[in-house]
Formats: sequence, structure tokens, C-alpha cells
Amino acid sequence: MSSEAIQIRILNTLTRLHLYAIVNDGGITCRHYPYKLVVEKGYGVWIEDVDGNVFMDCYSGIAVCSMGHCHPEIVEAITKQTQTLIHMCGASYYNRHMSQLAKKLDELVPIKSPTRAYFATSGAEAVETALKLAMYHTKRQRFISFIDSYHGQSLGTLSLTAMNKNDQVGYMRKVLDVVHIPYPKKLHSPFGNVTDDESASRATIN
Ligand SMILES: Cc1ncc(COP(=O)(O)O)c(C=O)c1O
Repeated sequence: MSSEAIQIRILNTLTRLHLYAIVNDGGITCRHYPYKLVVEKGYGVWIEDVDGNVFMDCYSGIAVCSMGHCHPEIVEAITKQTQTLIHMCGASYYNRHMSQLAKKLDELVPIKSPTRAYFATSGAEAVETALKLAMYHTKRQRFISFIDSYHGQSLGTLSLTAMNKNDQVGYMRKVLDVVHIPYPKKLHSPFGNVTDDESASRATIN
């Protein structure tokens, strides 16, 4: 069992039911799991592998789309959309679903309305947009990122990502000017004399 994850596995050989709870402990990905899970299908909180073993998935949607697997309402909405329009290029024309979703987000986000929404297809693309906005607005070019952080694998976000050495090795250079600093945490702080959140933040800043 990986020391990085808290894992609960209850194996019943008769029913072939495995209860496998993976509690996210700071960006653990599949490659760290001791069991090479090859997923065939999912329903609700359960996923089934190619050998018919059933697992409880506590990591649904990599913690950002925690909707369970194949919820009937979501399946219905996707099915309906694929029968109506599959590809929509937001740079070329408009679509009422996009503006409706933007309006909904405007109501939900704790930012003074009116807001603008930018729809991206991945987390990395969203982070790239944030980087571009920051550079455009501040006219500055240097970034601070935390050691052990994950921001994506595109060239821009890869400059910030620092989870393991493979994130940086082999690419010759970072495309962005980034300084990596330790995260201000009191647990396992790389600095001595850190007893609380304030001293942890102070140690990182110093
Ligand atoms: C905090 C964080 N930022 C960015 C990303 C990148 O998202 P994507 O894999 O969709 O590009 C991830 C993905 O796990 C993430 O956890």
C-alpha cells in the first residue's frame, strides 16, 4: 500500500467485491496505485475493472466533477446533445447553452457581477488562461509556484508544476520564468522553528 494514500480495501472472494476507497492526499494519480486498475465501466460510486472486480471510487472526476459515474440525468443530457449538435466552435459562432451556463456561473461565483466566462476543455487550459490574464494585466513576467504543486502538463503550466523531477527533466528550459518555493505548512516544514500557520508563512516568505 502506498504511504501517500489512505486506502481501505475489503476483499470478498465469493462476491468478487472489492471496496477500495482512495482518499485524495494531495494530487495522487493512478501511477502511484499499487493495483493496476483497468476500468471497464462505472455506475454511481462504483467502478468495475476488466476482470469484473468492483471498486468504490472516492476519487470520482478527479475531485472536480464529483457526480458519480454515468448518472442517468447526465447520460440523458449528453445523449440528447449528441443527437442535436456535437461540435460547437465558440470562437466562430454562438450557442445558447454557452451563454446560459455563463449566466449561471455569474450568479454562483462570489465575484461582483457582471463577470465574463471563458470555457476551456481542461484544467491546464484554464490555468494557462489565468497566467495569460495575469501577464496581460500586470505587465509582469515572473511567477511564484509551490514545490509539490500540480498545474497541468501543457508547456506553460509545466513551468509551474513541480510534483516530481520528471516534470522538469528533459525539456531543456521552462517556458515561463518561475521561482519554486516551499508551501507554507507547519506539518513537515522544511524550515526549523515552525509551530503554527503564521510562522510557516513567515518562514516561506523569508
Ligand atoms: C490543481 C490542478 N490544476 C490543474 C490540473 C490540470 O488539469 P487537466 O489535467 O484537466 O489539464 C489539475 C489536474 O489534475 C489539477 O489537479
